[in-house]
Amino acid sequence: MLKLGKPVFGICYGEQLIAHLMGGTVTPGDRGEFGLATLYPNGSPSAILAGITGPQQVWMSHRDLVSAAPPGFTVTASTSTCATAIIEDPEQAIFGVQFHPEVVHTRPGTQVLTNFVRTVCGCQNDWDPSQRIEQIKEQIRQRAGDRRVFFFVSGGVDSTVAFSLCLEALGSERVRGVYVDTGLMRSGETEFVQETLASLGVVKVEYCAEEFLSALEHVREPEVKRHIIGEQFVTVQNRVIEQWGLLSGKWILGQGTIYPDTIESGGTAKAATIKTHHNRVPGIQKLIDAGMIVEPLADYYKDEVRAIGRELGLASSLLERHPFPGPGLAIRCLCADSDHALARVSDGYLVPIRSVGVQGDSRSYAPVLAIDTFPSATTRLQDEATELVNRTAGINRVIARVATREGLEHQKVFASALTHGRIDLLRTADEIVRTITHDSGFDRQVWQFPVILVPLGSGEARESVVLRPIQSTDGMTADAVVMPDDLLHRISAQLLTVPDIAGVYYDLTHKPPGTIEWE
Ligand code: XMP
Repeated sequence: MLKLGKPVFGICYGEQLIAHLMGGTVTPGDRGEFGLATLYPNGSPSAILAGITGPQQVWMSHRDLVSAAPPGFTVTASTSTCATAIIEDPEQAIFGVQFHPEVVHTRPGTQVLTNFVRTVCGCQNDWDPSQRIEQIKEQIRQRAGDRRVFFFVSGGVDSTVAFSLCLEALGSERVRGVYVDTGLMRSGETEFVQETLASLGVVKVEYCAEEFLSALEHVREPEVKRHIIGEQFVTVQNRVIEQWGLLSGKWILGQGTIYPDTIESGGTAKAATIKTHHNRVPGIQKLIDAGMIVEPLADYYKDEVRAIGRELGLASSLLERHPFPGPGLAIRCLCADSDHALARVSDGYLVPIRSVGVQGDSRSYAPVLAIDTFPSATTRLQDEATELVNRTAGINRVIARVATREGLEHQKVFASALTHGRIDLLRTADEIVRTITHDSGFDRQVWQFPVILVPLGSGEARESVVLRPIQSTDGMTADAVVMPDDLLHRISAQLLTVPDIAGVYYDLTHKPPGTIEWE
């Protein structure tokens, strides 16, 4: 490839491979460089750094590095750990960068990529995103042929935008939807869907709360929950498919699957353990394999889906909704097999519950570290959390105590399963948080705000609430966000008026190492 005479741009390992193949040297670094770093351009002429001056924030993830650039290459920038952060050979149009220009944390990333694509490769900006809607609609028409499209809508942004695209592409006579009320929804969700989608006359509500809740009652294992919910969805889907005669050859199934769903639940060798996502359960996979499915948004990220929705004229109350997982409140209601005291460790207390984290491409369940420091907006405690996770063996998450009826030393984990009562309690807590954060406008400053119920408490009050507001662009990575102190005090005071709630905590963990959801 390097001999084709075409421009080449190597990122991270790509830079190292270029160096290795072209006569440079790659060696293991003394220490790794993971996360934010400062890039210092050295002033040499640089095609990659055109329009970029002075030190720049970049994101690194490497240990090996290029210790000697290949003959003919110039080093144009470095960081404190990597002397060869950019290498360039303009004659051969071959370039390498050790940092990751493709992630949002690299501030000049878009400019770096633009310099390569436009200036070095000579590409024109002729992609007009407004054309994408026409293209998607055409793809839908081609896939559907003379068949109709049937959707299981969730009320979320993705399925609503996908559904609306099909409506526009095929007309309302040829598109239908069913919304499944699993009993695991947040307060007001079914009513919202009825007002927004069912009012169009093309969506019917299927009430299945009893089915889901009785199949889940007394379950404690996180992955068993997900499995049961997946199976229940399949049962309901099969029933609806039969009722509607969807396998008659006259229908295909539409889904709001977006690009990250396909990566996190199907893109890698360890896919099965990454996310058991009901868009990819075996029954659905059969339809995909048989070409009986249309997923108009499968190539798009969430922010693009919202932009498409805006172009379609959908209401912002619908488009700006936070993502909500298919398994619903069930995966935000943690359970425990037996009573356990918290273990004192040097930085706080280990809470022996199973919360999920993500390291590399696999998910792992581990206890949580609770620290006794109020998560004030002025302290940037969330940055210390990553350090705490790195130095505390066997955890993947850090929470800070906001307010508890009794001190941390009196808290313990109580044996608990997924019951109607606990789901209702979580729904109440979630509604309190959503109402206050909506009225204050804080919900519009974050990408998602899970509220988690943990069987942690003291005395008669045996449950605690964890607040998990995060900032993200696509859900693949996320930053924990700390809210203003007065807002946090208001939320915790209101939550503690609920008799069963013993405490309020704040999740400080970025993703990675902690996932956005807790299971
Ligand atoms: P995690 O917890 O993996 O979540 O960091 C990333 C994003 O995916 C959502 N999520 C799901 N969405 N079905 C869904 O429809 C699921 O099973 C599921 N699990 C996680 C999560 O809410 C976040 O936006």
